[in-house]
Amino acid sequence: MSESSTMQSTTNRSTTPTGSAFTEQIQQGWAERPQTTPEPRASAAPAAERRARISALHPGVRLVVPAGGLKVRSNDTDYPFRALPDFSYLTGWGSDAEPDSVLVLEPVRGDERSDERSDDSTASGHTATLYFRGPAGRGTTEFYANPAIGEFWVGPRPSLPHVAADLGLAVADLAELAAALEGEADALVVTGADAAVEAQIAGANPDGDILARDLSELRLVKDAYEIAEVQAAVDATARGFDDVIADLADATQHERGERVVEGAFHRRARLDGNTVGYDTIAASGHHACYLHWTRNDGQVRPGDLILLDAGVEVDSLYTADITRTLPISGEFSEIQRRIYDAVVEAADAAFAVVKPGIVFKEVHAAAMEVIARKTAEMGLLPVSAEQSLEPDQQLHRRWMVHGTSHHLGLDVHDCAAARRDFYHDGIVREGMVFTIEPGLYFQADDLTVPEELRGIGVRIEDDIVVTADGAVNLSAAIPRTADEVEAWMREVRSR
Ligand code: GLY
Ligand code: MN
Ligand code: MN
Repeated sequence: MSESSTMQSTTNRSTTPTGSAFTEQIQQGWAERPQTTPEPRASAAPAAERRARISALHPGVRLVVPAGGLKVRSNDTDYPFRALPDFSYLTGWGSDAEPDSVLVLEPVRGDERSDERSDDSTASGHTATLYFRGPAGRGTTEFYANPAIGEFWVGPRPSLPHVAADLGLAVADLAELAAALEGEADALVVTGADAAVEAQIAGANPDGDILARDLSELRLVKDAYEIAEVQAAVDATARGFDDVIADLADATQHERGERVVEGAFHRRARLDGNTVGYDTIAASGHHACYLHWTRNDGQVRPGDLILLDAGVEVDSLYTADITRTLPISGEFSEIQRRIYDAVVEAADAAFAVVKPGIVFKEVHAAAMEVIARKTAEMGLLPVSAEQSLEPDQQLHRRWMVHGTSHHLGLDVHDCAAARRDFYHDGIVREGMVFTIEPGLYFQADDLTVPEELRGIGVRIEDDIVVTADGAVNLSAAIPRTADEVEAWMREVRSR
């Protein structure tokens, strides 16, 4: 079990009775819970295919993928649980996954290979078993006296048969994990999620965490289920952006209007039954120049721009990552529009080069060619755009220091353990999902730019999927050009 508030003592304020009268009384008188056997959820079949792929990469090796546990926010309060993405990828278990669960892919020995199994747990050369903490039962102390995991406190846990049917996986109680992890010489474990599990399989990962690496590299190309989930997250994000526009005038009346904006987006995510995939960036005025401004404690002033970078995460844990930069009054000023149009041009240039077979970094290069040319045209560069684009110059990057694209999926910055040769320097393939998000940011105290530019920050971020011969913009329905944004704001405000 990983570090969590489970480990924290609350004995200095516990009021739980310990007498036998209470103990006997609270452990009895509960109705049996009806047992249900659901049909496998939509993620079950794609997860089985992914297990087969990782199995084929590591024949004869035990593969261990922990979900991770609750993480302490402070003292005895935890953050909401979110399973390790590699675990969700291989099990299909999303927002309802149980903390401390572990997926084990056990290599099938030669003499077992002919065995017929009636479930869907055989991942070619491995047998998959999901270990999780099943219901403790109302006859236990945990049931009523453990605030971290007791069902009286945090709600019921699903039964083993229920999860087995739901995910189409063989399951076992977490209590059986330790025995299952004994006695296999060759093992790989995804590290960083569950130190206790890692400690139980000492000797694993002789060449480092190549299991996390391989899973990240498999995750680079999305299957049809994943693309549909990202699309659902993008569509839900679009609804949140509509609500923000509807509340923008109210936000200008509040001394922390950025929080009103953040709240409007979050409220829509919750109204739709979702959450957010990362902390919302609601960056008004010069805050838009801080790339990951999440403090969101500033005012929202008419005449300024507000940069909203936000994404809904759906139950499967797939997230969107969208940015729109809006004129708070509803119309761009001339200088704001000039910067905005330059960023649109950079985004369009990046989008235009995307197709299978290019190298991922070419997407960034296409956007940078425009950013260099535009900043040269504005008279900001002491050299030509061509000179600035030289690897040892890059002066235009002062106004866009971040990359143009990152993969997107179960993580907002997806596939983090993939090797550079597969990611930045990797070949773009059909089914990849990534962002295109150029920007221009002129900090309020940047003495190298004319005063009229200072404090203007613009980013436009879309989520795209690579097709057989190009790409589709999953967020195309969210207005994007300056004219479209102004018309969108008029339309939402007239509702
Ligand atoms: N929301 C963070 C990013 O765009 O990468
Ligand atoms: Mn992004
Ligand atoms: Mn973003």
